[in-house]
Amino acid sequence: MSDTNDMNGASGMNETKFGEYGGQYVPEVLMPAIEELQSAYERYVLENEDGFMDEFRRHLRDFGGRPTPLQRADALSERYDREVYLKREDLLHGGAHKLNNALGQVLLAKYMGKERIVAETGAGQHGTATAMAASYLDIDCEVFMGRTDINRQRPNVFRMRTHDAEVNPVDVGSGTLKEAINETMRDWATNVEDTHYVIGSVVGPHPFPKMVRDFQSVISEEAREQIRKKAGRLPDSVVACAGGGSNTMGAFHNFVDDAEPRSANRSSGHGPRDDESVSLFAVEAGGSGLTIDEDEGVAPHSASLSSGQDGVLHGARTKLLQSGDGQILESHSVSAGLDYSGVGPELAHLVETGRVTPVNVGDDAALEAFHRLSKLEGIIPALESSHAVAYLERAAQRAADGSSGHDQRDEADELGDLVIVNVSGRGDKDLDTVIEESAKRGIDAAPSMEVFE
Ligand SMILES: Cc1ncc(COP(=O)(O)O)c(C=O)c1O
Repeated sequence: MSDTNDMNGASGMNETKFGEYGGQYVPEVLMPAIEELQSAYERYVLENEDGFMDEFRRHLRDFGGRPTPLQRADALSERYDREVYLKREDLLHGGAHKLNNALGQVLLAKYMGKERIVAETGAGQHGTATAMAASYLDIDCEVFMGRTDINRQRPNVFRMRTHDAEVNPVDVGSGTLKEAINETMRDWATNVEDTHYVIGSVVGPHPFPKMVRDFQSVISEEAREQIRKKAGRLPDSVVACAGGGSNTMGAFHNFVDDAEPRSANRSSGHGPRDDESVSLFAVEAGGSGLTIDEDEGVAPHSASLSSGQDGVLHGARTKLLQSGDGQILESHSVSAGLDYSGVGPELAHLVETGRVTPVNVGDDAALEAFHRLSKLEGIIPALESSHAVAYLERAAQRAADGSSGHDQRDEADELGDLVIVNVSGRGDKDLDTVIEESAKRGIDAAPSMEVFE
């Protein structure tokens, strides 16, 4: 195992940790691959050797369709009595932010002379994005996917196969993202010479969390410029859902330096702010409640930032859902892409230092937000993104609820007058789940399916 801080003893560039979190907690057998990747990350991504970043930007534009729009959501702005803007990552090629990272890493693998890509996937969005990028850049691709996720994300499995990627079902454990990552790491460890592991979020050992964040930070780079043009100033807050946290860090990164920890420089009350501080809200999956069943080894949610404890998972120290004995609990969310027992180490650090506020909304609220955005704005959001959209409603309800107490009123007001919500992906992949779950839970906002009967 290695958790070396600042391996070359030089600048922050080689820093493997974010405060207490991150590191390289991997078996020795993986260290040569990690070191090779670290060197490639520093040369190609950070130093733009051989024009890597220029080529990456060109692919993002020509293949991916960047920049994505920042759209004023007129109906939501009226509903919540504040300016709401949506960062439309659902309009990126493939229908989710995942392509930003997949394109970057597949291209990096080519620069490193690798011949084969392996990737894990949860919702299937990262697998699909990787399969698309591998087909576009002409490299072999295998995707590991838990059996549960395969069954709840069938359209994405077909999409991966259509792009000629192998999809390897993972039957162990709960058959979701955690097990898929384990299997992919195992494959990588066995085939390091010709294979690169395209990890799908800001998780895993260094340099993955930094590298994935760097590829995703184009979201906030664009959003910062777009909001200044459209609204004449920086937003009061940015809201993004958090699974592993790659859309989250992508949406936050270029705003992280725009404020002290939130309690230090908030203006009081709902209204314009007198500074350019930007609050950052990471919305986790609250599932059916923030409880834990230690005996069964299950948490009916995926809120590791809000309720997890420090531990090591997939090569990094971070906040985790785990038992008192350190066993990782099985997480839950109605949204496959948020169903993960850990979270990226940088987010854990930003929460620990007070820069990012972790909040959560449950399955039902996310389903309601899915229908609300579809009806009011004509946008079908991914169930993951629906969690971020749902937080607007939660905050508004709390502000309206005089009985909810002083702290909760403050929380609602902290969104401020100008909010960016990251719509990380589109919801076509979720339609089967939404129809089934909305009927099962009696979600009022769901459309009638009578027409089929
Ligand atoms: C559309 C969408 N948003 C968000 C996520 C969660 O991932 P992350 O937290 O890394 O952005 C996923 C994961 O599959 C996704 O498909």
